[in-house]
Amino acid sequence: MTNANNKKLTTAAGAPVVSNTNSMSAGKRGPLLLQDVWLLEKLANFNREVIPERRMHAKGSGAFGTFTVTHDITQYTKARIFSEKGKKTDMFARFSTVAGERGAADAERDIRGFALKFYTEEGNWDLVGNNTPVFFFRDAMHFPDLNHAVKRDPRTNMRSANNNWDFWTNLPEALHQVTYVMGDRGIPTDYRHMHGFGSHTYSMINATNQRVYVKFHFTSKQGIKNFTDQQAADVVANDRESSQRDLYEAIEKGEFPKWSVSIQVMTDEQAESLRYNPFDLTKVWYKSDFPLIPVGEFELNRNPANYFAEVEQASFAPSNVVPGISFSPDRMLQARLFSYADAARYRLGVNNTLIPVNAPKCPVHNFHRDGAMRTDGNLGSTMHYEPNSYGQWQEQPSYKDPALAIDGPVDIYDFREDDDNYFEQPGKLFNIMSPEEKQRLFENTARNMDGVEFFIKERHIIHCYKADTAYGTGVAKAMGIDINDINVNKEIQYR
Ligand code: HEM
Repeated sequence: MTNANNKKLTTAAGAPVVSNTNSMSAGKRGPLLLQDVWLLEKLANFNREVIPERRMHAKGSGAFGTFTVTHDITQYTKARIFSEKGKKTDMFARFSTVAGERGAADAERDIRGFALKFYTEEGNWDLVGNNTPVFFFRDAMHFPDLNHAVKRDPRTNMRSANNNWDFWTNLPEALHQVTYVMGDRGIPTDYRHMHGFGSHTYSMINATNQRVYVKFHFTSKQGIKNFTDQQAADVVANDRESSQRDLYEAIEKGEFPKWSVSIQVMTDEQAESLRYNPFDLTKVWYKSDFPLIPVGEFELNRNPANYFAEVEQASFAPSNVVPGISFSPDRMLQARLFSYADAARYRLGVNNTLIPVNAPKCPVHNFHRDGAMRTDGNLGSTMHYEPNSYGQWQEQPSYKDPALAIDGPVDIYDFREDDDNYFEQPGKLFNIMSPEEKQRLFENTARNMDGVEFFIKERHIIHCYKADTAYGTGVAKAMGIDINDINVNKEIQYR
């Protein structure tokens, strides 16, 4: 344990360090000695300071806070976090950009990650969302390719607009998310002035074991603020840490950012009769059909004492749910249930849940043992197998989710045959924008596609046109293309 009052410098093994200024040399001007063990330790430790960065969402900022229930939703969920009005639960949030590496600038046009960890009395609940309610596609099979396409080209080691847009426009279902990213919300001024979304359909299960489907919404009480491309360029020129600085300084000043929390609820019957797939991550549920139901609010009120310990080492996993909150058949969510805990085992090691920011604040009892960096005593002499005859740590069947009916045999189903309505919702999103917002959307898109091959631009214009003729016409014009020169009825051969 570090004792801040003890000013004596020691090695990692606790022995006194004689000199932290001069290395041990053979003679006054001679070469160094291998027996200067402090120098060896110092250099070796330094070489190991960097851990793998998150494959995406590598640049981020975090803070601790408190979630408070303001409305009773026990009719939907037995989750203890929601058990009574006024109840408070400790939490941790990490916000991030997606494509940039760990040293990237904050004010870039990109989605923002919105990851929340609630330390509930029945285990950690992680809600790993974004600042947009939808995503680029519906099947996780595309995820590694998305990241290759938006990150650096293997030859040039530069970001490639051509790769990026070739990939996006080969997936017509991406237009909804692309419209968010190219619109005003593509560059939030900072993390306090943006909304968050769980995005996926999750389920809630109540005390009588009835299931409803839910979507989570986090509405910024600071309001929404965005940068234009030009404003962002000016900010980045002077400050690559603009969102980190904003969040850190606001909390230091006692200006604690707050978000209200609400849910949309859909019953099984409504899910069955919905005219689109309620588990399709490229679509929203219309608020007119599924209004927001208030739940609570959270505030972020404490900066981490150490960025590496508490933010870099934080790990979130959508598989971390608690009784009363569960999954849905969303293909993307299903894949994420594997991906994050696996990433944590790679990035931080198998004992990543022992790291204080990740450790549950309730008792943890299981038969996992050993592994690298097991720092908690490894549960000493307690029994390490099950079944055992001593009643130790038995399974808890009362927490079983209600059965889920599924609709057919195992196969590789083409989701495009299920629903090829890619353009209705992006069209509606376009139409709630003001004329000025629309114009910025056109111009942002044109700037972003600068240098991209014509056939890719054409494909995007056609998609926009199908969403709304004014969207396609405006994007084409901003690119200097006459819409009459584009065959908007052309049949696109997707890869
Ligand atoms: C980070 C996988 C889709 C939000 C990550 C990481 C992986 C991953 C491996 C890095 C985790 C780490 O190293 O700790 C995937 C896969 C997806 C997917 C396979 C699709 C199948 C999404 C979606 C959202 C999302 C749809 C939001 C709705 C995030 C966030 C982080 C993240 C916020 C950063 C978490 C943090 O702050 O530590 N993702 N992701 N991802 N992802 Fe995803």
